[in-house]
Amino acid sequence: MKYTHNNYELNMSNLGQEVYLKGWVQKSRNLGGLIFIDLRDRFGITQLMVKPDNQFYGVAEKIRSEYVIEVKGIVSERESKNLNMQTGEIEIDVKELTILSAAETPPMSVSDDTDALEETRLKYRYLDLRRPHMQNFLIQRHKITQSIRSVLVSEGFYELDTPILGKSTPEGARDYLVPSRLYAGHFYALPQSPQIYKQLFMVAGFEKYFQMAKCFRDEDLRADRQPEFTQVDIEASFIDQEDIQGLIERVMKHTFKQVLDVEVQTPFLKMSYQDAMEKYGTDKPDMRYELLINDYKALFSKIDIPLFNDKSYLKGIVLNQGASLTRKQIDKLSDLVKKNHGDALVYVKNVEGVYSGSIHKFMNEADYQTLNLKDQDILFLVPGNNDQALNALGALRVELAHQFNLIDENIYKFLWVTEWPLLEYDEEEKRFYAKHHPFTAPSDVNQLKTNPKDAMAKAYDIVLNGYEIGGGSIRIHNQDVQKLMFETLGLSDEEVKHRFGFFVDALKYGTPPHGGLALGLDRIVMLMTHTSNIKDVIAFPKTQSAKDQMMQAPSDVDQVQLDELHLKIGE
Ligand code: AMO
Repeated sequence: MKYTHNNYELNMSNLGQEVYLKGWVQKSRNLGGLIFIDLRDRFGITQLMVKPDNQFYGVAEKIRSEYVIEVKGIVSERESKNLNMQTGEIEIDVKELTILSAAETPPMSVSDDTDALEETRLKYRYLDLRRPHMQNFLIQRHKITQSIRSVLVSEGFYELDTPILGKSTPEGARDYLVPSRLYAGHFYALPQSPQIYKQLFMVAGFEKYFQMAKCFRDEDLRADRQPEFTQVDIEASFIDQEDIQGLIERVMKHTFKQVLDVEVQTPFLKMSYQDAMEKYGTDKPDMRYELLINDYKALFSKIDIPLFNDKSYLKGIVLNQGASLTRKQIDKLSDLVKKNHGDALVYVKNVEGVYSGSIHKFMNEADYQTLNLKDQDILFLVPGNNDQALNALGALRVELAHQFNLIDENIYKFLWVTEWPLLEYDEEEKRFYAKHHPFTAPSDVNQLKTNPKDAMAKAYDIVLNGYEIGGGSIRIHNQDVQKLMFETLGLSDEEVKHRFGFFVDALKYGTPPHGGLALGLDRIVMLMTHTSNIKDVIAFPKTQSAKDQMMQAPSDVDQVQLDELHLKIGE
């Protein structure tokens, strides 16, 4: 290749050198006859200068933003230097210039300070991705992927892939289905995760597997969820929970050091699911700040407050320096509590020893003293059913941390959430659901038999700064236990045979004890690049309403295709 440098490299040490460069035109301007061109590539920008007596001056005059050009020139010292720019002390005195490709005026400005709407950015994603800011997200994604891969490979894991067209394995979301042409009325399902396949790799004796796996889930989207996302899917045999956790800690430590030069402390904190729920009101606590939830039932039991009387639980949070919150701000917080299923938000303030709040008329001085509030403290209370009060306070905790700037954005706090319940009981449907998935091993098989409601799982989630970045478990490797699990989930023998027959069969022929975990790669990249929008770190993401804005997918298809697939579109 004739090109000698990228657009980030040249500096005063290169003065006088003849160089060949190429790239896109960021901008071009004519200043008193001299034409200056900012040439951009994925590394940076170099300034080009074309003098009026240059035989290529006519070509330079034609150049507009986003043209693709190549130049030959001499590195020269700039008259007015820009020390904020890597290449800001030099410019290229152009000798030859060729337009490789002209560009129409782009529908959005290709710069980090673009004011284009998200809709436009997604429609012209290839232009959006030219912006250095966006390129950085994907370059970091590449580095993170490579770093994770290097640790797993160095620890003896095989990178193996699994089919996209398969049979649905239940992970709790709706499946994306693909109709079969050859078998009328039959469908493949896109994998929600390669869970069963990776377990079959263990049955097949591969012992250590991983995959950068595409997963598909038709569920409601949020800022950290996409219908199509990538897992670092991992499985290993003859291991226990601590082995998997140790492995993931090594993966994270290496990756944070390699990509961000950040030292991550290991081992990570561990907390039981129950403690997480009781103290933080969520199964993915952000450990960068405290604001713990406490129980106030006993404290208020002697005070007659009608709102609390018939409620089984009373939980609360004390916020230091929170007494400055206005009535209006508290009303907003109250709305948030109700949106998160809390009955009501009650508050008590201490301002220089003077107490006030929404239950003032029921409280006397002695009652207030029992609360132990310091000057400028505010206590928030949510009465109600345990789960709902905790859920509401969990959301309130996050909101208060943001409002009061309690979060240090520069730190990373990892946490293992362990000791999960195996099952969840659905009161309406009167049946159990698997809290993780039906292949997760119970901590005690006898308990699953005799008291499934209280059965615990050998499951663990990894949480980073309040986001669930991975989840896994030790699996059931015994056919009878797997059958018992399916039975407990209310699946008939027929259903088990129909949906999982092949899998239960596989467990018959010598299955090693095994377990694993899947990391949410997109979420990890999102956190490591400090964006709160998962779309930023996915090259071609879907919108919040699951549309591909650029390709206009989903789209209708020809009648011929529908006929081949034996499909009729309803009204
Ligand atoms: P789970 O369902 O917990 O486990 O998924 C693992 C991790 O994948 C990420 N994730 C998502 N990221 C973006 N968009 C989504 N829609 C989305 N859904 C999940 C999360 C999550 O922690 N088979 C099991 C893993 C195992 O047991 O080994 C599984 O899929 O970061």
